[in-house]
Amino acid sequence: MQPPSAAALAHIPAAPQLPIFGNTLEVLKDPNALYRRSSAALGKVYRIKFLNEWRVSLASADGVEYILMDPDHLFSSEHGWTVLTELFPRGLMLRDFDDHRAHRRIMQAAFRKSAMDSYLAMMAPALDDMVAQWPVGQQFEFYPAIKNLTLRMGANVFMGLPVDAPATDALNRGFIDEIAASVALLRKPLPYTKYRRGLDARAHLIEQFSALIEERRDGDGQDFFSQMCRATDEDGKSWTDSEIVDHFNFLMMAAHDTTASALTAMVWALSEHVEWQDRLAREIADLGPGPFEQDMLDRMPLTDMVFKEALRMMPPVPLIPRRAMRDFEWNGVKIPAGTSVTALVGPIMMSPEYYTDPETFDPERFSPNRAEDRSHRFAWAPFGGGAHKCIGLHFSTMQVKVFLRALLGRYKVLPAKPGPVAWKPLPIPQPKGGLPVVLQRR
Ligand code: HEM
Repeated sequence: MQPPSAAALAHIPAAPQLPIFGNTLEVLKDPNALYRRSSAALGKVYRIKFLNEWRVSLASADGVEYILMDPDHLFSSEHGWTVLTELFPRGLMLRDFDDHRAHRRIMQAAFRKSAMDSYLAMMAPALDDMVAQWPVGQQFEFYPAIKNLTLRMGANVFMGLPVDAPATDALNRGFIDEIAASVALLRKPLPYTKYRRGLDARAHLIEQFSALIEERRDGDGQDFFSQMCRATDEDGKSWTDSEIVDHFNFLMMAAHDTTASALTAMVWALSEHVEWQDRLAREIADLGPGPFEQDMLDRMPLTDMVFKEALRMMPPVPLIPRRAMRDFEWNGVKIPAGTSVTALVGPIMMSPEYYTDPETFDPERFSPNRAEDRSHRFAWAPFGGGAHKCIGLHFSTMQVKVFLRALLGRYKVLPAKPGPVAWKPLPIPQPKGGLPVVLQRR
């Protein structure tokens, strides 16, 4: 679907911008600051120019709700997520309406209770072993270490590969290149560009996944990939080879990069707020010794609060794009068909309209007596909402809790260097410098 002409959007107030780049550099540097400035100066509906296209922001929690719940079936996710079109085509998030619903129903089978129990049983001991091998008393960069760990977990649980399989290093590099390409300024696959590297990585990953299909379809493996190879809908129709690899490529990226970013934000906050680290360590000690059991997940309310606060301050998916399939009106502003529309999930979670002192790390804001996230149904929405709400929400919560028990049950985490940590917020937040930390035995 073609975007509307600049003239068709001229009635919508526009943020000041640079020639050629528009607002792209500001969005990549600090989307929250752009939102604060623009909504104060221009109101709740304004436009910015990002990656050479005008995009309209509905800048309120009501706007997030309207876009994500989509009561009028107006918004396409496939045509919204154009930054991912060539890198993750036909992934679940890049499908719409009935087609999306049919595919999601099949994928949902891999997240049913019995499957989650088996993932926990696979994940907990492997994760515990990997954390036990981390260096003690010497500086290391947390972000690359956790990315490596979540990818190995993903390859284990989702692909049935051993956690120490050498292939996971190549997978990791492939996903890094795919994600980096999603926000490349130059979007032509010219040699030696970031975009080209992303597309090459996709081709290589697809080749690797395709090579596994036949064996997995005939086997009885319980890993996610094997399940996808054998999955059928209600009419007994299974996915084609290309559907399997497209879904899988997207899912592996969605599963490990987001959780790695969220865990890095948590560990960063905990290393700077030792009192919270000690509170979580006590909660973890109260769980008792032995393997991680299912019931422990419900006995970690403080960990839940810290996870929520980290996702509020540093959401892995801060901006959710859609494209309007028909003309519509929002807050009295007419918005034409074809417009790229953004749900400002991240900026809303940092807005004083919904949170007291939003820049302060304060997990108590999620305690039952304060419950600031209840100020609006979409005041806290790091997992999105509506038809595309994150399918891996419970999986990632489980992984976070299992990881933190393994980490804080053993170690104290301290920053290796004094001073503030700078973050690169997009495409998925990561700390500049990799977040150097030091572990001390408790
Ligand atoms: C902290 C971790 C995570 C965060 C913050 C997160 C966030 C999100 C968000 C915001 C969306 C919706 C995007 C949209 O509406 O356009 C989404 C969708 C999705 N997520 Fe996650 N995610 C996380 C972890 C995971 C994990 C662990 C998995 C898989 C195991 C996963 C798989 C997916 C899939 C397949 C979709 C597409 C759903 C659909 O279109 O129906 N995510 N995620």
